[in-house]
Formats: sequence, C-alpha cells, structure tokens
Amino acid sequence: MENRPQWGTRAGFILAAIGSAVGLGNIWRFPAVAYENGGGAFFIPYLFALLTAGIPLLIMEFTIGHKYRGSSPLSLARMNKKWEWLGWWQVAVSFVISTYYAGIIAWSGSYAFFSFGEKWGKDPEGFFFGNYLKLAETPGDIGGIVPGVFWPMVLVWGVTFFVLLKGVKKGIEVASKIMIPTLIVLFLIIVIRALTLDGAAQGLDAFFKPNWDTIADPKVWVAAYGQIFFSLSIGFAIMITYSSYLPEKTDLTNSAFITGFANSGFELLAGIGVFAALGFMANQANVPVSEVVAGGVGLAFVVFPRIISEFPAFNGFFGFAFFTCLVLAGLTSLISIVETYVAGVQEKFNISRTKAVLVGGGLSALLSILIATRGGLYFLDAADYFINQFGVALAGLVEVIAVVWVMKELKNLQNHTNEISDVSVGTWWRFSLGIITPVVLGYMMVQNLVTNIK
Ligand code: PHE
Repeated sequence: MENRPQWGTRAGFILAAIGSAVGLGNIWRFPAVAYENGGGAFFIPYLFALLTAGIPLLIMEFTIGHKYRGSSPLSLARMNKKWEWLGWWQVAVSFVISTYYAGIIAWSGSYAFFSFGEKWGKDPEGFFFGNYLKLAETPGDIGGIVPGVFWPMVLVWGVTFFVLLKGVKKGIEVASKIMIPTLIVLFLIIVIRALTLDGAAQGLDAFFKPNWDTIADPKVWVAAYGQIFFSLSIGFAIMITYSSYLPEKTDLTNSAFITGFANSGFELLAGIGVFAALGFMANQANVPVSEVVAGGVGLAFVVFPRIISEFPAFNGFFGFAFFTCLVLAGLTSLISIVETYVAGVQEKFNISRTKAVLVGGGLSALLSILIATRGGLYFLDAADYFINQFGVALAGLVEVIAVVWVMKELKNLQNHTNEISDVSVGTWWRFSLGIITPVVLGYMMVQNLVTNIK
C-alpha cells in the first residue's frame, strides 16, 4: 500500500468538502440566480437538481476517489488508461478558476479593512472600479500592477501555500475545522442582524414570491443544474481528490448527503441574508426591491458597501464580518482547487508534495498576477465566462457518460459504496446518473452552443 496522506477524522473530511462547496458562489451567485429564475418557484428545479444530479454525482465522485485512491487523473487512469485525459481537463479547469478566485478573495480581504471608516465614501462604484481596481479604460490593456490588489493577493497565496505545505491532515483539515465554524457563526450574526432591519420583510417577499410561469421554462432548469454543479464543486476533480484521502472504512453515501444538504442550507441562508439586506436598502431609498437586486462582483463590492454605509450602527463591524465571510468561504474553496492539481502533478511526476505545491501552486500564483493588473477585471470576466460556458458542465457531462456508459463502472462503484456505507444506493442513484443527468446536461450543452452561435 502506498503512503497516502489521510484525514484524521471523518468530520474533518466532511468539513473540508463543505469548505470546498461553500464558496463565493453560495453568497453572491445563488441569491440572484434564484431571484431571476422564479423566486420561490425556483426551489422546485433546484431541489430536483440537487437530488438527481448534485448528490448522486457527489456520491459517485466520493466513491471513485475512495476506490481508486488517486486524484482525478490517476483514479480515471486506474479505471481505464484511455480516460486519464479527462482528469487533466478537470485539473485544467480548476487551475484556471484558482487564478481569478484568488483575486476575488484578495479584494474581499481589502474590503474587510475598508469597512472601518467606510473608505469607499459616497460613491462605492467609482471607488471600486476607479480608486481600488484602477481599471484600465480598454479591455486587454494590462497597464501595470496595482499594488493595492497585488499585496493582498500575495497574502492569499501565502496562506494557501502554508496550509497546503502542512499537508492534508495538519493543513487542510485543521484549516477547515477553524475556518468553517467561524464562517457559519459570523454569517449567522449577519443574517440575524439583516433580518431585524427595516424593510427586511419586503426583501424576503421579493426573494420567496414564486413566479410559477418559470417552471415550464427550460432555461430555469438549466440555471438550477448549473448552480448545483458549481456550488457543490462537482465535475472539477476536487471531490475525487478529497475522498481519496479517506481511510478504508468510512461512510461515503452519508458524507455526500451531509455535504450536499449543508451546502444548500448555507445557500438558502445566504439568500435570506442578502435579500433582507437588499430590502433594507430599497426601503432606505424608497424604491422597489427589484431595483436594487444584484449578483456577483456588483453585489459584493458596490451594493454591499452602500448597505453597510447605511447601517444604523456598528457599520465597521458588520462590513468587516461580511467581507471576512467572503474571505473564509473563498479560501477554503481555493485550497481545495489548488490541492486538486497539486495532487495530480505530484502523482503524475512522482515528486514530493512540497515540490508539487511550489511548482503547481507557484504557476497558478504567477499567472494570477494578471488579475492584479489594471486589466485584471477583464481577465477575470473572460476566464469566468470561458469556465462557465465550456468548463464545468461539459466536464461533468463527459465524466458521467464516460463512467456510466463507456467504462460501465456504475455497478462496481455501487457495490463499493454499499459495502461500506450505512445507506445503500440503488435504482434512484443509477437512474439519476445514467439517464437524468446526461439528458439534462446534454441539453444544457446544446442550448449553450446554440445561443453562442446566434
Ligand atoms: N463551490 C464553490 C462556490 O460555490 C466554487 C468552486 C468551484 C470551488 C470550483 C472550487 C472549485 O463558490
């Protein structure tokens, strides 16, 4: 038996998996996606996607990693030599994500400190794009490094390297055990405070009000699947890598359910918190909530600073807490993405973990300097677009088809997980992975292509 690193406890593994899943996508992507795709009605496709794609695929990835004991390229190669490339594709997607994810964490770190004294002043939008990012006028113009972004990024990479160099048990597990509980407590404080602000009820009303017409719209289903995939970090090789560090006797199915529900629970909490805060903002400005809804970069760095400035009291503290949540959620995800290719490189070239961290992580850190230039936001947008259009769902689709239909591995995997898990998987699992997921994902891909060609 090779000398593979191992998690100290199952709780440690689950916290690390939750750490990967709970990321920026939960806080700034989910609330807006749900709102735009039917509000309360969105929960039906969302739950359907969680139960027919999210959790089944998570069980499959956990089982692959556990059975074949390798990062994604090695596990797939052990299944069938011909499919190793798929693992590398997933590793490449993770690599690209890591370069810009690090940038966003760095911005959030800066903003945690800007919260004291509300450094963004009266014009958070102008401050963010102009004073902070110093965004170049024309896309593609690199225009030099912005020190205010560069140094926080050095810090983000420093922490990531530190954790990864310490290893799986002493590094990733310990970091997850500290960061995830802290994140949950801080976030709960913010949500409770947001719920007691004037206008919170209007915000929640806007968020939960179901628009049933959307249920019949395929785009909404596509959005639900997309959100579940990105949010659960599946199709990225991450969960395969993480479960390859589990001891032989462990409950895989149960771990997948806990991870899946914890991630969605956090997402729901974020939706409630964000919309309560948006309701407050709409109330202050005397406009309908629909006029202040935002997602992504705009929500975090333009709308939230505004909300924080209008807070009745303790503005600095709440701003600091919010941006610290972004940092913690982001860091645990970044660590998981980098671990994925560190493990891949280490196994492929048979080098030490330290070398793999320094070379693999170093390459990504170097490339991510692009995000710290005056053209950074343009690179980020381009990379993010590319990943969302061609990376995530496509890699997931190819993975499912390869494992289920080409290599016909599903039965083996089912036996493997059922042997060690309390809850057995059966028809529901096989049907979800064999039929529902490929059909829906295949449809997503075709639709994407069509809209791209148009
Ligand atoms: N799951 C993370 C989120 O919701 C995103 C992520 C994607 C993390 C890919 C790691 C890898 O933000």
